[in-house]
Amino acid sequence: MANHKEAKTIQAIILAAGTSSRFKTGRTKLIEKICGRPMILYPTGIMQQLGLKTVMVVGFQKESVQEAVINHFADSVTFVHQEEQKGTGHAIACTKENWTADHLLVLNGDMPLITQDIIEKIIKKHLESDAAISFATAHHCDPEALYGRVIQADNNIQIIEAKDFEGDLAEQCCVNAGIYVIKKDFLLDHIDQLHNNNASKEWYITDLVNIASKKQLKVVTVSVPFDRIRGVNDFKELWAAEQIKKSEIIQHWMAQGVRFCIAHNVQIDWNVTIGSGSFIGSGAQLLEGTKIGKDSTVGAFSFLKNTTIGDRTHVYPHSYCDSSIIGNDASVGPFCYIHGDSKLHDNAVVGSFVEVNRSTIGSFSKAKHLAYLGDTMVGQQVTIGAGLVACNYDGAKKHQTIIQDNAFIGGNNTFVAPVTIGASAITAAGSTITQDVPANALAIARERQVNKENYADKIREKINGDKTETEVSTTTPWAPLEAGIIFKQAE
Ligand code: UD1
Ligand code: CA
Repeated sequence: MANHKEAKTIQAIILAAGTSSRFKTGRTKLIEKICGRPMILYPTGIMQQLGLKTVMVVGFQKESVQEAVINHFADSVTFVHQEEQKGTGHAIACTKENWTADHLLVLNGDMPLITQDIIEKIIKKHLESDAAISFATAHHCDPEALYGRVIQADNNIQIIEAKDFEGDLAEQCCVNAGIYVIKKDFLLDHIDQLHNNNASKEWYITDLVNIASKKQLKVVTVSVPFDRIRGVNDFKELWAAEQIKKSEIIQHWMAQGVRFCIAHNVQIDWNVTIGSGSFIGSGAQLLEGTKIGKDSTVGAFSFLKNTTIGDRTHVYPHSYCDSSIIGNDASVGPFCYIHGDSKLHDNAVVGSFVEVNRSTIGSFSKAKHLAYLGDTMVGQQVTIGAGLVACNYDGAKKHQTIIQDNAFIGGNNTFVAPVTIGASAITAAGSTITQDVPANALAIARERQVNKENYADKIREKINGDKTETEVSTTTPWAPLEAGIIFKQAE
Protein backbone atom coordinates (compact mmCIF):
# COMPACT_ATOMS: atom_id res chain seq x y z
CA MET A 1 0.00 0.00 0.00
CA ALA A 2 1.31 3.44 -0.95
CA ASN A 3 0.55 5.01 2.40
CA HIS A 4 2.32 3.06 5.11
CA LYS A 5 0.32 4.78 7.79
CA GLU A 6 -2.80 3.15 6.35
CA ALA A 7 -1.35 -0.30 6.89
CA LYS A 8 -1.25 0.40 10.63
CA THR A 9 -4.72 1.96 10.65
CA ILE A 10 -6.30 -0.98 8.87
CA GLN A 11 -6.20 -4.66 9.55
CA ALA A 12 -7.76 -7.41 7.50
CA ILE A 13 -10.16 -10.14 8.59
CA ILE A 14 -10.90 -12.91 6.13
CA LEU A 15 -13.93 -15.12 6.78
CA ALA A 16 -13.05 -18.73 6.01
CA ALA A 17 -14.92 -20.86 8.52
CA GLY A 18 -18.08 -21.65 6.57
CA THR A 19 -19.34 -25.18 5.94
CA SER A 20 -19.40 -24.94 2.13
CA SER A 21 -22.68 -26.84 2.11
CA ARG A 22 -23.63 -25.78 -1.43
CA PHE A 23 -20.53 -27.55 -2.78
CA LYS A 24 -21.99 -30.90 -1.68
CA THR A 25 -18.58 -32.51 -1.40
CA GLY A 26 -18.34 -32.62 2.38
CA ARG A 27 -15.09 -30.65 2.07
CA THR A 28 -14.33 -26.99 2.58
CA LYS A 29 -14.58 -25.11 -0.70
CA LEU A 30 -11.85 -22.70 0.36
CA ILE A 31 -9.09 -25.05 -0.68
CA GLU A 32 -10.69 -26.01 -3.99
CA LYS A 33 -8.18 -24.91 -6.60
CA ILE A 34 -8.83 -22.23 -9.17
CA CYS A 35 -6.14 -22.24 -11.85
CA GLY A 36 -4.05 -24.44 -9.58
CA ARG A 37 -4.27 -22.28 -6.46
CA PRO A 38 -6.47 -22.92 -3.42
CA MET A 39 -9.26 -20.35 -3.55
CA ILE A 40 -8.51 -18.87 -0.13
CA LEU A 41 -5.01 -17.85 -1.22
CA TYR A 42 -6.24 -15.25 -3.71
CA PRO A 43 -7.72 -12.80 -1.18
CA THR A 44 -5.03 -13.73 1.34
CA GLY A 45 -2.31 -12.95 -1.21
CA ILE A 46 -3.78 -9.51 -1.81
CA MET A 47 -3.76 -8.76 1.92
CA GLN A 48 -0.10 -9.75 1.94
CA GLN A 49 0.66 -7.51 -1.04
CA LEU A 50 -1.03 -4.63 0.77
CA GLY A 51 1.04 -5.34 3.86
CA LEU A 52 -2.09 -5.67 5.99
CA LYS A 53 -1.97 -7.60 9.22
CA THR A 54 -4.40 -10.42 8.60
CA VAL A 55 -6.66 -12.46 10.84
CA MET A 56 -8.47 -15.42 9.30
CA VAL A 57 -11.56 -16.96 10.83
CA VAL A 58 -11.43 -20.72 10.41
CA GLY A 59 -13.75 -23.44 11.64
CA PHE A 60 -15.09 -26.07 9.27
CA GLN A 61 -12.09 -28.27 8.35
CA LYS A 62 -9.81 -25.60 9.70
CA GLU A 63 -6.71 -27.80 9.47
CA SER A 64 -6.96 -27.96 5.67
CA VAL A 65 -7.52 -24.23 5.33
CA GLN A 66 -4.71 -23.39 7.74
CA GLU A 67 -2.33 -25.79 6.04
CA ALA A 68 -2.95 -24.22 2.62
CA VAL A 69 -2.40 -20.73 4.03
CA ILE A 70 0.70 -21.62 6.05
CA ASN A 71 2.25 -23.46 3.09
CA HIS A 72 2.17 -20.26 1.08
CA PHE A 73 2.37 -17.47 3.61
CA ALA A 74 4.16 -19.13 6.54
CA ASP A 75 3.02 -17.64 9.83
CA SER A 76 2.03 -14.20 8.57
CA VAL A 77 -1.68 -14.88 9.14
CA THR A 78 -3.29 -15.19 12.59
CA PHE A 79 -6.04 -17.79 12.85
CA VAL A 80 -9.12 -17.42 15.00
CA HIS A 81 -11.35 -20.41 15.58
CA GLN A 82 -15.10 -20.10 15.06
CA GLU A 83 -16.22 -23.25 16.75
CA GLU A 84 -19.77 -23.31 15.40
CA GLN A 85 -20.59 -21.74 12.08
CA LYS A 86 -23.39 -19.43 13.05
CA GLY A 87 -23.01 -16.94 10.22
CA THR A 88 -20.75 -14.14 8.99
CA GLY A 89 -21.79 -11.79 11.82
CA HIS A 90 -20.90 -14.43 14.38
CA ALA A 91 -17.58 -15.05 12.57
CA ILE A 92 -16.51 -11.42 12.87
CA ALA A 93 -17.62 -11.35 16.51
CA CYS A 94 -15.26 -14.27 17.19
CA THR A 95 -12.29 -12.05 16.28
CA LYS A 96 -13.11 -9.32 18.83
CA GLU A 97 -9.95 -9.84 20.84
CA ASN A 98 -7.87 -9.34 17.72
CA TRP A 99 -9.27 -5.93 16.81
CA THR A 100 -6.15 -3.80 17.13
CA ALA A 101 -6.36 -1.33 14.22
CA ASP A 102 -8.78 1.61 13.96
CA HIS A 103 -10.55 0.14 10.96
CA LEU A 104 -11.24 -3.43 9.95
CA LEU A 105 -11.31 -4.60 6.38
CA VAL A 106 -13.53 -7.69 6.41
CA LEU A 107 -13.90 -9.88 3.37
CA ASN A 108 -15.37 -13.20 2.39
CA GLY A 109 -12.81 -15.89 1.69
CA ASP A 110 -14.69 -17.16 -1.37
CA MET A 111 -13.91 -14.35 -3.80
CA PRO A 112 -10.91 -15.44 -5.86
CA LEU A 113 -11.24 -12.74 -8.53
CA ILE A 114 -10.84 -9.78 -6.21
CA THR A 115 -8.03 -7.36 -7.07
CA GLN A 116 -5.74 -5.13 -5.08
CA ASP A 117 -6.99 -1.92 -6.70
CA ILE A 118 -10.58 -2.61 -5.62
CA ILE A 119 -9.53 -3.13 -2.02
CA GLU A 120 -7.42 0.03 -2.14
CA LYS A 121 -10.35 1.97 -3.58
CA ILE A 122 -12.71 0.90 -0.79
CA ILE A 123 -10.16 1.65 1.94
CA LYS A 124 -9.43 5.07 0.44
CA LYS A 125 -13.09 6.03 0.16
CA HIS A 126 -13.79 4.79 3.67
CA LEU A 127 -10.95 6.75 5.24
CA GLU A 128 -11.69 9.91 3.24
CA SER A 129 -15.37 9.89 4.10
CA ASP A 130 -14.90 8.94 7.75
CA ALA A 131 -17.73 6.42 7.41
CA ALA A 132 -18.84 4.07 10.17
CA ILE A 133 -19.06 1.32 7.60
CA SER A 134 -18.23 1.13 3.91
CA PHE A 135 -18.94 -1.76 1.62
CA ALA A 136 -18.65 -2.77 -2.01
CA THR A 137 -21.66 -3.25 -4.28
CA ALA A 138 -22.01 -4.65 -7.78
CA HIS A 139 -24.67 -4.87 -10.47
CA HIS A 140 -26.06 -8.35 -11.02
CA CYS A 141 -29.60 -9.15 -12.08
CA ASP A 142 -29.83 -12.92 -11.79
CA PRO A 143 -32.78 -13.73 -9.51
CA GLU A 144 -31.26 -17.16 -8.84
CA ALA A 145 -28.09 -15.62 -7.39
CA LEU A 146 -28.22 -15.63 -3.60
CA TYR A 147 -26.41 -12.35 -3.06
CA GLY A 148 -27.62 -9.93 -0.45
CA ARG A 149 -29.63 -7.17 -2.14
CA VAL A 150 -28.69 -3.57 -1.40
CA ILE A 151 -31.83 -1.52 -1.02
CA GLN A 152 -31.59 2.26 -0.86
CA ALA A 153 -34.65 4.37 -0.11
CA ASP A 154 -34.87 7.90 1.19
CA ASN A 155 -31.98 8.28 3.53
CA ASN A 156 -31.80 4.65 4.39
CA ILE A 157 -29.62 1.84 3.06
CA GLN A 158 -29.91 -1.79 3.98
CA ILE A 159 -28.74 -5.20 2.86
CA ILE A 160 -31.41 -7.87 2.70
CA GLU A 161 -30.24 -11.42 2.15
CA ALA A 162 -31.84 -13.14 -0.85
CA LYS A 163 -33.51 -15.71 1.39
CA ASP A 164 -35.15 -12.96 3.44
CA PHE A 165 -36.13 -10.79 0.49
CA GLU A 166 -39.84 -10.67 -0.09
CA GLY A 167 -40.09 -8.75 -3.38
CA ASP A 168 -38.98 -9.71 -6.89
CA LEU A 169 -35.23 -10.46 -6.76
CA ALA A 170 -34.93 -9.81 -10.52
CA GLU A 171 -35.89 -6.21 -9.86
CA GLN A 172 -33.06 -5.74 -7.36
CA CYS A 173 -29.81 -5.73 -9.25
CA CYS A 174 -27.57 -4.03 -6.70
CA VAL A 175 -25.86 -6.80 -4.73
CA ASN A 176 -23.59 -6.88 -1.72
CA ALA A 177 -20.06 -7.92 -2.69
CA GLY A 178 -18.92 -9.21 0.70
CA ILE A 179 -16.16 -6.62 1.34
CA TYR A 180 -16.55 -4.20 4.23
CA VAL A 181 -14.41 -1.60 5.96
CA ILE A 182 -15.71 -0.96 9.45
CA LYS A 183 -14.65 1.50 12.12
CA LYS A 184 -13.48 -0.41 15.14
CA ASP A 185 -15.38 1.86 17.54
CA PHE A 186 -18.62 1.35 15.65
CA LEU A 187 -18.07 -2.39 15.70
CA LEU A 188 -17.31 -2.46 19.42
CA ASP A 189 -20.49 -0.56 20.13
CA HIS A 190 -22.78 -2.58 17.88
CA ILE A 191 -21.51 -6.11 17.43
CA ASP A 192 -23.74 -7.31 20.24
CA GLN A 193 -26.84 -5.99 18.48
CA LEU A 194 -26.66 -8.63 15.77
CA HIS A 195 -29.34 -11.30 15.94
CA ASN A 196 -30.33 -14.43 14.08
CA ASN A 197 -33.95 -13.61 13.56
CA ASN A 198 -33.95 -14.42 9.83
CA ALA A 199 -34.59 -17.17 7.29
CA SER A 200 -31.19 -18.81 7.82
CA LYS A 201 -31.18 -18.46 11.61
CA GLU A 202 -27.68 -17.02 11.26
CA TRP A 203 -25.97 -13.92 12.53
CA TYR A 204 -25.39 -11.72 9.46
CA ILE A 205 -22.49 -9.27 9.15
CA THR A 206 -24.71 -7.41 6.70
CA ASP A 207 -27.00 -6.31 9.52
CA LEU A 208 -24.22 -3.94 10.64
CA VAL A 209 -25.05 -1.82 7.59
CA ASN A 210 -28.71 -1.78 8.57
CA ILE A 211 -27.82 -0.80 12.14
CA ALA A 212 -25.53 2.04 11.03
CA SER A 213 -28.07 3.33 8.57
CA LYS A 214 -30.90 3.31 11.10
CA LYS A 215 -28.71 5.30 13.48
CA GLN A 216 -28.03 7.79 10.71
CA LEU A 217 -24.31 6.96 10.88
CA LYS A 218 -22.36 7.36 7.70
CA VAL A 219 -22.56 4.38 5.35
CA VAL A 220 -20.54 4.52 2.13
CA THR A 221 -20.82 2.22 -0.87
CA VAL A 222 -18.27 1.63 -3.58
CA SER A 223 -19.50 0.18 -6.85
CA VAL A 224 -17.21 -2.46 -8.35
CA PRO A 225 -17.48 -4.79 -11.38
CA PHE A 226 -19.46 -7.94 -10.59
CA ASP A 227 -16.88 -10.22 -12.18
CA ARG A 228 -14.30 -9.08 -9.64
CA ILE A 229 -16.43 -9.96 -6.63
CA ARG A 230 -18.09 -13.16 -7.80
CA GLY A 231 -18.59 -15.46 -4.85
CA VAL A 232 -17.90 -19.16 -5.26
CA ASN A 233 -20.57 -21.22 -3.53
CA ASP A 234 -20.88 -24.27 -5.79
CA PHE A 235 -19.09 -25.93 -8.69
CA LYS A 236 -21.02 -23.87 -11.26
CA GLU A 237 -19.74 -20.67 -9.71
CA LEU A 238 -16.26 -22.15 -9.37
CA TRP A 239 -16.28 -22.97 -13.06
CA ALA A 240 -17.41 -19.44 -13.93
CA ALA A 241 -14.70 -17.90 -11.74
CA GLU A 242 -12.05 -20.19 -13.17
CA GLN A 243 -12.99 -19.28 -16.75
CA ILE A 244 -12.45 -15.64 -15.93
CA LYS A 245 -9.19 -16.24 -14.08
CA LYS A 246 -7.92 -18.47 -16.87
CA SER A 247 -8.76 -16.03 -19.62
CA GLU A 248 -6.96 -13.29 -17.70
CA ILE A 249 -3.87 -15.47 -17.41
CA ILE A 250 -4.00 -16.41 -21.10
CA GLN A 251 -4.51 -12.81 -22.17
CA HIS A 252 -1.54 -11.81 -20.03
CA TRP A 253 0.70 -14.29 -21.88
CA MET A 254 -0.78 -13.32 -25.24
CA ALA A 255 0.30 -9.77 -24.50
CA GLN A 256 3.82 -11.13 -23.89
CA GLY A 257 3.94 -12.66 -27.38
CA VAL A 258 2.63 -16.17 -26.78
CA ARG A 259 0.28 -17.71 -29.33
CA PHE A 260 -2.49 -20.00 -28.15
CA CYS A 261 -4.37 -22.29 -30.50
CA ILE A 262 -8.03 -22.52 -29.37
CA ALA A 263 -7.16 -20.62 -26.23
CA HIS A 264 -10.37 -21.40 -24.34
CA ASN A 265 -9.49 -25.06 -24.51
CA VAL A 266 -6.11 -24.68 -22.76
CA GLN A 267 -5.81 -25.18 -19.00
CA ILE A 268 -3.22 -22.94 -17.38
CA ASP A 269 -2.30 -22.38 -13.75
CA TRP A 270 -1.71 -19.02 -12.13
CA ASN A 271 2.02 -19.56 -11.64
CA VAL A 272 2.96 -20.81 -15.12
CA THR A 273 5.40 -18.73 -17.17
CA ILE A 274 5.84 -18.76 -20.96
CA GLY A 275 8.50 -17.05 -23.05
CA SER A 276 7.68 -14.90 -26.06
CA GLY A 277 7.36 -16.57 -29.44
CA SER A 278 6.12 -19.81 -27.94
CA PHE A 279 3.07 -21.65 -29.22
CA ILE A 280 0.59 -23.51 -27.03
CA GLY A 281 -1.54 -26.09 -28.80
CA SER A 282 -5.19 -26.85 -28.31
CA GLY A 283 -6.09 -28.77 -25.17
CA ALA A 284 -2.65 -28.34 -23.58
CA GLN A 285 -2.55 -28.39 -19.80
CA LEU A 286 0.16 -26.23 -18.24
CA LEU A 287 0.11 -26.83 -14.53
CA GLU A 288 1.82 -26.19 -11.19
CA GLY A 289 4.52 -23.69 -11.93
CA THR A 290 5.50 -25.06 -15.33
CA LYS A 291 7.99 -22.80 -17.08
CA ILE A 292 8.27 -22.65 -20.84
CA GLY A 293 11.10 -20.80 -22.52
CA LYS A 294 11.07 -18.68 -25.65
CA ASP A 295 10.08 -19.89 -29.12
CA SER A 296 9.06 -23.29 -27.85
CA THR A 297 6.03 -25.32 -28.87
CA VAL A 298 3.72 -27.31 -26.66
CA GLY A 299 1.72 -29.63 -28.89
CA ALA A 300 -1.97 -30.32 -28.61
CA PHE A 301 -3.20 -32.24 -25.56
CA SER A 302 0.17 -32.28 -23.87
CA PHE A 303 0.21 -32.28 -20.10
CA LEU A 304 3.02 -30.38 -18.39
CA LYS A 305 3.06 -30.28 -14.61
CA ASN A 306 5.83 -28.66 -12.55
CA THR A 307 8.09 -28.94 -15.57
CA THR A 308 10.64 -26.56 -17.03
CA ILE A 309 11.04 -26.42 -20.81
CA GLY A 310 13.91 -24.47 -22.36
CA ASP A 311 14.00 -22.26 -25.45
CA ARG A 312 13.19 -23.51 -28.97
CA THR A 313 12.11 -26.88 -27.61
CA HIS A 314 9.38 -28.87 -29.25
CA VAL A 315 6.89 -30.85 -27.17
CA TYR A 316 4.86 -32.84 -29.69
CA PRO A 317 1.19 -33.63 -29.02
CA HIS A 318 0.01 -35.91 -26.24
CA SER A 319 3.21 -35.74 -24.21
CA TYR A 320 3.03 -36.06 -20.42
CA CYS A 321 5.83 -34.34 -18.51
CA ASP A 322 5.78 -34.16 -14.74
CA SER A 323 8.36 -32.68 -12.36
CA SER A 324 11.13 -32.69 -14.93
CA ILE A 325 13.49 -30.35 -16.75
CA ILE A 326 13.83 -30.29 -20.52
CA GLY A 327 16.60 -28.14 -21.97
CA ASN A 328 16.90 -25.92 -25.03
CA ASP A 329 16.41 -27.15 -28.61
CA ALA A 330 15.15 -30.48 -27.33
CA SER A 331 12.32 -32.51 -28.77
CA VAL A 332 9.89 -34.77 -26.93
CA GLY A 333 6.88 -36.82 -27.98
CA PRO A 334 4.43 -37.36 -29.46
CA PHE A 335 3.09 -39.68 -26.76
CA CYS A 336 6.02 -39.69 -24.36
CA TYR A 337 6.03 -39.86 -20.56
CA ILE A 338 8.77 -37.93 -18.78
CA HIS A 339 8.59 -37.81 -15.01
CA GLY A 340 10.31 -38.36 -11.67
CA ASP A 341 12.72 -35.39 -11.69
CA SER A 342 14.15 -36.46 -15.02
CA LYS A 343 16.42 -34.12 -16.92
CA LEU A 344 16.83 -33.83 -20.65
CA HIS A 345 19.83 -31.73 -21.63
CA ASP A 346 19.92 -29.41 -24.64
CA ASN A 347 19.19 -30.99 -28.01
CA ALA A 348 18.07 -34.29 -26.51
CA VAL A 349 15.34 -36.18 -28.36
CA VAL A 350 12.78 -38.41 -26.68
CA GLY A 351 10.25 -39.72 -29.16
CA SER A 352 7.00 -41.60 -29.23
CA PHE A 353 6.07 -44.12 -26.55
CA VAL A 354 9.25 -43.50 -24.59
CA GLU A 355 9.02 -43.33 -20.80
CA VAL A 356 11.79 -41.50 -18.95
CA ASN A 357 11.64 -41.86 -15.19
CA ARG A 358 14.20 -40.56 -12.66
CA SER A 359 16.66 -40.39 -15.54
CA THR A 360 19.01 -38.00 -17.29
CA ILE A 361 19.44 -37.77 -21.04
CA GLY A 362 22.59 -35.98 -22.18
CA SER A 363 22.93 -33.43 -24.97
CA PHE A 364 22.27 -34.63 -28.50
CA SER A 365 21.25 -38.07 -27.23
CA LYS A 366 18.22 -39.69 -28.77
CA ALA A 367 15.68 -42.30 -27.74
CA LYS A 368 13.20 -41.89 -30.51
CA HIS A 369 10.84 -44.84 -30.18
CA LEU A 370 9.34 -47.25 -27.68
CA ALA A 371 11.67 -47.36 -24.70
CA TYR A 372 11.62 -47.45 -20.90
CA LEU A 373 14.45 -45.50 -19.31
CA GLY A 374 14.10 -45.81 -15.56
CA ASP A 375 16.95 -44.75 -13.23
CA THR A 376 19.11 -44.36 -16.31
CA MET A 377 21.95 -41.89 -16.82
CA VAL A 378 22.48 -41.37 -20.52
CA GLY A 379 25.57 -39.43 -21.58
CA GLN A 380 25.95 -37.18 -24.61
CA GLN A 381 25.50 -38.13 -28.27
CA VAL A 382 24.05 -41.52 -27.38
CA THR A 383 21.73 -43.28 -29.83
CA ILE A 384 19.14 -45.56 -28.29
CA GLY A 385 17.37 -47.87 -30.72
CA ALA A 386 13.68 -48.67 -30.55
CA GLY A 387 12.58 -50.93 -27.77
CA LEU A 388 15.24 -50.51 -25.06
CA VAL A 389 14.02 -51.54 -21.64
CA ALA A 390 16.12 -50.56 -18.64
CA CYS A 391 15.16 -53.23 -16.09
CA ASN A 392 15.68 -51.08 -13.04
CA TYR A 393 13.64 -53.05 -10.52
CA ASP A 394 14.43 -56.50 -9.17
CA GLY A 395 11.24 -56.78 -7.18
CA ALA A 396 12.80 -55.26 -4.09
CA LYS A 397 15.19 -52.48 -5.09
CA LYS A 398 15.72 -50.03 -7.94
CA HIS A 399 19.08 -50.13 -9.75
CA GLN A 400 20.84 -47.73 -12.05
CA THR A 401 21.78 -48.05 -15.69
CA ILE A 402 24.59 -45.88 -17.05
CA ILE A 403 25.04 -45.36 -20.77
CA GLN A 404 28.15 -43.34 -21.44
CA ASP A 405 28.84 -40.79 -24.18
CA ASN A 406 28.57 -41.80 -27.85
CA ALA A 407 27.29 -45.30 -27.12
CA PHE A 408 25.01 -46.88 -29.71
CA ILE A 409 22.26 -49.12 -28.41
CA GLY A 410 20.72 -51.56 -30.89
CA GLY A 411 16.99 -52.09 -31.20
CA ASN A 412 15.06 -54.20 -28.71
CA ASN A 413 17.72 -54.34 -25.98
CA THR A 414 17.13 -55.23 -22.36
CA PHE A 415 19.55 -53.81 -19.79
CA VAL A 416 19.42 -55.60 -16.47
CA ALA A 417 20.51 -52.97 -13.98
CA PRO A 418 22.84 -52.24 -12.37
CA VAL A 419 24.81 -52.12 -15.57
CA THR A 420 27.10 -49.69 -17.38
CA ILE A 421 27.54 -49.35 -21.12
CA GLY A 422 30.95 -47.77 -21.72
CA ALA A 423 31.61 -44.76 -23.91
CA SER A 424 31.32 -45.40 -27.65
CA ALA A 425 30.30 -49.03 -27.07
CA ILE A 426 27.77 -50.71 -29.33
CA THR A 427 25.19 -53.25 -28.28
CA ALA A 428 23.71 -55.56 -30.90
CA ALA A 429 20.00 -55.52 -31.59
CA GLY A 430 18.01 -57.91 -29.44
CA SER A 431 20.66 -58.12 -26.71
CA THR A 432 19.92 -58.76 -23.07
CA ILE A 433 22.81 -57.04 -21.32
CA THR A 434 23.49 -58.28 -17.81
CA GLN A 435 27.17 -57.33 -17.49
CA ASP A 436 28.99 -54.05 -17.96
CA VAL A 437 30.13 -53.36 -21.51
CA PRO A 438 33.63 -51.84 -21.75
CA ALA A 439 34.18 -48.60 -23.63
CA ASN A 440 34.30 -49.05 -27.39
CA ALA A 441 33.30 -52.75 -27.21
CA LEU A 442 30.59 -54.49 -29.22
CA ALA A 443 28.28 -56.48 -26.96
CA ILE A 444 26.16 -59.22 -28.50
CA ALA A 445 23.93 -61.02 -26.07
CA ARG A 446 21.43 -63.11 -28.02
CA GLU A 447 21.00 -66.54 -29.60
CA ARG A 448 22.81 -67.05 -32.86
CA GLN A 449 20.46 -67.36 -35.80
CA VAL A 450 20.04 -70.77 -37.50
CA ASN A 451 18.65 -70.94 -41.04
CA LYS A 452 17.30 -74.36 -42.09
CA GLU A 453 17.27 -74.40 -45.90
CA ASN A 454 13.93 -75.34 -47.54
CA TYR A 455 12.39 -76.08 -44.18
CA ALA A 456 9.40 -73.83 -44.78
CA ASP A 457 7.87 -76.17 -47.37
CA LYS A 458 8.47 -79.21 -45.19
CA ILE A 459 6.52 -77.55 -42.43
CA ARG A 460 3.64 -76.73 -44.73
CA GLU A 461 3.47 -80.33 -45.95
CA LYS A 462 3.44 -81.54 -42.41
CA ILE A 463 0.62 -79.23 -41.50
CA ASN A 464 -1.54 -80.23 -44.46
CA GLY A 465 -0.87 -83.95 -43.83
CA ASP A 466 -1.91 -83.70 -40.19
CA LYS A 467 -4.94 -81.56 -40.88
CA THR A 468 -7.58 -84.23 -40.22
CA GLU A 469 -5.85 -85.52 -37.10
CA THR A 470 -6.07 -82.24 -35.24
CA GLU A 471 -9.11 -80.68 -33.62
CA VAL A 472 -7.82 -77.20 -34.34
CA SER A 473 -9.92 -75.14 -36.72
CA THR A 474 -8.34 -75.04 -40.17
CA THR A 475 -10.31 -72.16 -41.59
CA THR A 476 -7.02 -70.36 -42.14
CA PRO A 477 -3.82 -72.14 -43.18
CA TRP A 478 -2.03 -70.69 -40.17
CA ALA A 479 -4.43 -71.86 -37.50
CA PRO A 480 -2.07 -74.65 -36.33
CA LEU A 481 0.71 -72.08 -36.12
CA GLU A 482 -1.43 -69.85 -33.92
CA ALA A 483 -2.24 -72.82 -31.74
CA GLY A 484 1.48 -73.43 -31.25
CA ILE A 485 1.33 -76.92 -32.75
CA ILE A 486 3.68 -76.23 -35.57
CA PHE A 487 6.77 -76.07 -33.43
CA LYS A 488 6.10 -79.39 -31.80
CA GLN A 489 5.54 -81.08 -35.11
CA ALA A 490 8.48 -79.51 -36.92
CA GLU A 491 11.14 -80.80 -34.51
C1 UD1 B 1 -22.54 -13.36 1.81
C2 UD1 B 1 -23.35 -12.15 2.26
C3 UD1 B 1 -24.16 -11.64 1.07
C4 UD1 B 1 -23.23 -11.29 -0.06
C5 UD1 B 1 -22.36 -12.48 -0.44
C6 UD1 B 1 -21.29 -12.05 -1.42
C7 UD1 B 1 -23.88 -12.52 4.59
C8 UD1 B 1 -24.94 -12.84 5.58
N1 UD1 B 1 -24.24 -12.52 3.31
O1 UD1 B 1 -23.47 -14.37 1.46
O2 UD1 B 1 -24.88 -10.47 1.44
O3 UD1 B 1 -23.99 -10.87 -1.19
O4 UD1 B 1 -21.69 -12.99 0.73
O5 UD1 B 1 -20.60 -13.15 -1.90
O6 UD1 B 1 -22.76 -12.25 4.96
N2 UD1 B 1 -18.27 -17.86 6.88
C9 UD1 B 1 -17.69 -18.00 8.11
N3 UD1 B 1 -18.45 -18.39 9.17
C10 UD1 B 1 -19.78 -18.63 9.05
C11 UD1 B 1 -20.38 -18.46 7.79
C12 UD1 B 1 -19.61 -18.07 6.73
O7 UD1 B 1 -16.49 -17.79 8.26
O8 UD1 B 1 -20.40 -18.98 10.06
C13 UD1 B 1 -17.44 -17.47 5.74
C14 UD1 B 1 -17.49 -18.44 4.58
O9 UD1 B 1 -16.48 -19.42 4.69
C15 UD1 B 1 -17.30 -17.54 3.38
C16 UD1 B 1 -17.82 -16.19 3.83
O10 UD1 B 1 -17.91 -16.25 5.23
O11 UD1 B 1 -15.94 -17.42 3.03
C17 UD1 B 1 -19.19 -15.87 3.24
O12 UD1 B 1 -20.08 -16.90 3.58
P1 UD1 B 1 -21.12 -17.48 2.54
O13 UD1 B 1 -21.91 -18.53 3.21
O14 UD1 B 1 -20.45 -17.80 1.29
O15 UD1 B 1 -22.05 -16.20 2.36
P2 UD1 B 1 -23.06 -15.89 1.18
O16 UD1 B 1 -24.29 -16.69 1.37
O17 UD1 B 1 -22.37 -16.00 -0.11
CA1 CA C 1 -20.38 -16.76 -0.71
